[in-house]
Amino acid sequence: MGFTMNVCVVFVLTCLISTSGRVRVGHLNGTTYYVTTVPRPFNLTEANDICKEYGGYLWEADNDAELRFVSTSVNRIYYRDHFYIGANDVENEGTFVYFNSGKPMLPNRWTRNNPSNSGDNEDCVELISYSRAFNDVPCQLDLCFVCEREYY
Ligand SMILES: *[C@@H]1O[C@H](CO)[C@@H](O)[C@H](O)[C@H]1NC(C)=O
Ligand SMILES: *[C@@H]1O[C@H](CO)[C@@H](O)[C@H](O)[C@H]1NC(C)=O
Repeated sequence: MGFTMNVCVVFVLTCLISTSGRVRVGHLNGTTYYVTTVPRPFNLTEANDICKEYGGYLWEADNDAELRFVSTSVNRIYYRDHFYIGANDVENEGTFVYFNSGKPMLPNRWTRNNPSNSGDNEDCVELISYSRAFNDVPCQLDLCFVCEREYY
């Protein structure tokens, strides 16, 4: 019992103080979600490759239950409010698709007055976790991002 407790505490501390890598935020319906912990200039390809190193890919919200779960889980850990996800409209302005699968993005889950393509320069998408909704942003901000991995 004491041993198990200690292992858990050490594990949690390691996650929370880690200066590189990722934090596991939870798992749902066969998928585990991670957030990176060090903001750096974003690049869709490179971020997706980092998720691949973890066995996954940039997060693709498939439905409202998943959006709610990930938002709530991220808020519980509360590392940062804003995280890039896999959605973007780089190829076709106004048509948001997921980077890894190419599937259409979950529709109608934007924050108020978005997507705005402000400055004609907002082709990537962030999760605003406390809003449980998305916002279009430039693709090169210093933000962390969400990865998902099929759980096994
Ligand atoms: C759960 O996962 C299965 C298999 O990936 C998928 O078909 C189903 O839509 C998912 N259910 C929810 C609520 O996300
Ligand atoms: C993103 O990274 C890839 C791979 O390193 C590179 O080829 C590409 O030019 C970068 N994209 C941008 C917009 O910087």
